[in-house]
Amino acid sequence: MPALAVDRKAPTPLHKQIYDGYRAAILSGDLIPGQKVPSSRDLTSTLSVSRFPVLNAYAQLLAEGYLESRVGAGTFVSASLPEQLMSVMQSSDNAEPTPSGPRPVARRSSLFPLFTYSPRLRGWGSFGVHQPALDQFPFRIWSNLVVRHTRNPHASAVHHVDPRGSERFRTAICSYLRTARGVKCEPDQIMVVSGSQQAIDITSRVLLDPGNAVWVEEPGYPLQHIVLNAAGCRVVPVLVDQEGMDVNFAIKRAPKARAAFVTPSHQYPLGSTMGASRRIQLLNWAQSAGAWIVEDDYDSEYRYESLPVPSLHGLDMNSRVIYIGTFSKVLFPSLRLGYMVIPRDLVDRFVAVRFAMDIFPAYLYQEVLSDFINDGHFTRHIRKMRQLYQQRRTALIESLSSEFPAREGFEVHGAEAGMHLAMTLPAGLNDMEISARAGRERLWLWPLSPSYQGDKPRHGFILGFGSTPPERIPQAVHQMRSILMAR
Ligand SMILES: Cc1ncc(COP(=O)(O)O)c(C=O)c1O
Repeated sequence: MPALAVDRKAPTPLHKQIYDGYRAAILSGDLIPGQKVPSSRDLTSTLSVSRFPVLNAYAQLLAEGYLESRVGAGTFVSASLPEQLMSVMQSSDNAEPTPSGPRPVARRSSLFPLFTYSPRLRGWGSFGVHQPALDQFPFRIWSNLVVRHTRNPHASAVHHVDPRGSERFRTAICSYLRTARGVKCEPDQIMVVSGSQQAIDITSRVLLDPGNAVWVEEPGYPLQHIVLNAAGCRVVPVLVDQEGMDVNFAIKRAPKARAAFVTPSHQYPLGSTMGASRRIQLLNWAQSAGAWIVEDDYDSEYRYESLPVPSLHGLDMNSRVIYIGTFSKVLFPSLRLGYMVIPRDLVDRFVAVRFAMDIFPAYLYQEVLSDFINDGHFTRHIRKMRQLYQQRRTALIESLSSEFPAREGFEVHGAEAGMHLAMTLPAGLNDMEISARAGRERLWLWPLSPSYQGDKPRHGFILGFGSTPPERIPQAVHQMRSILMAR
């Protein structure tokens, strides 16, 4: 029997010290399977401790299968413990052991690019993309609603398990979409998701098979491309112009595509709005090709020179459009709430996939947001933000036009809507390189070129203006100019 010592002054309780000592001795092979160990009475006197810690430790070791007791014979190291296990489990610290070489993972997992948490994602600042004016969010009202729903949650709310989400929330979303976005829907066609990203993922699982051709906008939304590539689709980049996706080109390139992913209200990232004739052309193609259109309507609430443009979904007479919306822009991204509108005949399929993924969405913020919408706070907030963003956008356009004149080859795109615009650079300037330099000065410039799939990207920056007060914009633009020119 190897020596077992306990330290009465140590912070670790005695029963844990005895347990650890035995476990380590067994796993290191100092105690071998079938070997007899002292009775609890003997160990108590050897260690000069009371019997309770010894009995506790033995009970735990018996429960975990390190020891076994044989009636009338005593207590033994379990005879059934495998020999090999013992030689590999000797480390007592908390660090994970280092594997000896590469281990197999699913091939499809390597279709996802490794995620790196770049400072651009982390940095909250002047040109932060996807960053709303959080200081203007009515957190007092919000927290009252959170308290309302956590203090006395209704049993039906706590237990609801509809994979589409709470009915009350879907009803609130539905009436908002009908009035504000011209979407033709009923609450039973709405599915609550954890943002557009989950909606894109579920859609790809329901509608797309490996090898299917899929049209995407070029440039487009990189997080959408990741999902489609990982689904094994043949992603077909289709250049966008002032009217959005060039549908004629797409039909020539891949007429039998299974789906088209578009941002018709405010093309991401270049900002054009898809015109009526393109919309109709796209819908006609989808109907004749038996294809689907996925409309990502991520920030259509904010439009500055006209009323918001109604959704593509509202024009669809053949139920070919899957409509996706999000609260990430109008409220805040960490809320992780979005929704989709599903053609009625596909609802069961979407529900089946969603159920397998995460059963149903978390309840609390669905209830909070239902009240936030039903009590009128949501539309009030959007109205207020629209004015605020309009000022920020005007300040940004003015500063850009004075610091980066068009005659030098700088061009501003897509400033009519949303919370960002894009500025393209004259030939010879590399957005990734400038962005890295800017990051060292804590200016987070989001490069445009990674939004392209093809090998001829335009260089530029996607400049968010949601989180920057107008008075700070001229100085930030000036800093950008200095960084750009310091080559
Ligand atoms: C094109 C586009 N779609 C959707 C989203 C929102 O994604 P999510 O709802 O997953 O936060 C963004 C960014 O916020 C976006 O740029």
